[in-house]
Amino acid sequence: MSRVTLSRYLIEQTRSNNTPADLRFLIEVVARACKEISHAVSKGALGGVLGATETENIQGEVQKKLDVLSNEILLEANEWGGHLAGMASEEMDNAYQIPGKYPKGAYLLVFDPLDGSSNIDVNVSVGTIFSVLRCPGECFTQNDALGEEAFLQPGTKQVAAGYAIYGPQTMLMLTLGNGVMGFTLDRELGSFVLTHENIRVPETTSEFAINMSNQRHWEAPVQRYVGELLAGTEGPLNKNYNMRWIASMVADVHRILTRGGMFMYPKDSREPGKAGKLRLMYEANPMSFIIEQAGGAATTGTQRILDVQPESLHQRVPVFLGSKEEVERVTGYHQG
Ligand code: AHG
Ligand code: MN
Ligand code: MN
Repeated sequence: MSRVTLSRYLIEQTRSNNTPADLRFLIEVVARACKEISHAVSKGALGGVLGATETENIQGEVQKKLDVLSNEILLEANEWGGHLAGMASEEMDNAYQIPGKYPKGAYLLVFDPLDGSSNIDVNVSVGTIFSVLRCPGECFTQNDALGEEAFLQPGTKQVAAGYAIYGPQTMLMLTLGNGVMGFTLDRELGSFVLTHENIRVPETTSEFAINMSNQRHWEAPVQRYVGELLAGTEGPLNKNYNMRWIASMVADVHRILTRGGMFMYPKDSREPGKAGKLRLMYEANPMSFIIEQAGGAATTGTQRILDVQPESLHQRVPVFLGSKEEVERVTGYHQG
């Protein structure tokens, strides 16, 4: 059988699922930008892309050269096509306005241009995470500058989400709300080819992912849960667990999509005002949409992530996601 490229998959989605043509175009443009980022990442020291810049983002994190470059690639690729009303990114304080010389469109694109930036210089997998929302109230027909409010929609409103992982292979994982499809970049052809159809996250697992160095700062339900995982066959769960922590959310989530697992980034007591590390709009929401579409679950410990009403663009949330049975267990511990 002939290979199904991303373009063909999207066209077939338009026929069978009424995926609008402008959404199809948007996904193709994002995929093209990810190919460009993949190319830059793979050059490493030869492309002069390793190392940090002298600037910090709004979260107070030093920006890596690839954070800035990936952000620019995504902005430039997406600003001219007429499919977007605006963009927002981990690397920009405020909403990005579509330049006046270009038409605007119905969608909003939110992204983490380069996830796992602490892994860039050590040649470990990194990625790009994106989320697509509709611009509410036909806001693209108005001439006013696009404010942050337009983006503040719960994750259930996402019309598409995905991530690209730049690892041994470059892959694009995508959901349009009817399952999760995985595409592998064929570098000779220059196209993403469908290689993983209707991915399902196993409901049970014996693998978990958490940054254990923060253990002493966790809240009681997380202490209890991870304590039980570590106790293995000698504890109440009566099963041995294995641990993995890549420190690139894309890579940890990709492993979970592939073979199951439990991913946690809880909030902790170091900064009581800070609800965890990961950002709702461009990390937790797109990943939760993908995980749910693959049959897994995602909560903050107390609430389904996709139901959280965002209050600001760079808001953080605690994240528990992956195999359903384990997510339900730790969520139950939070509920007492
Ligand atoms: P980013 O590189 O986009 O800032 O995100 C990094 C995130 C996420 O990818 C990962 O799961 C987590 O930070 C790792 O945090 P620790 O360094 O605390 O392990
Ligand atoms: Mn990130
Ligand atoms: Mn990032």
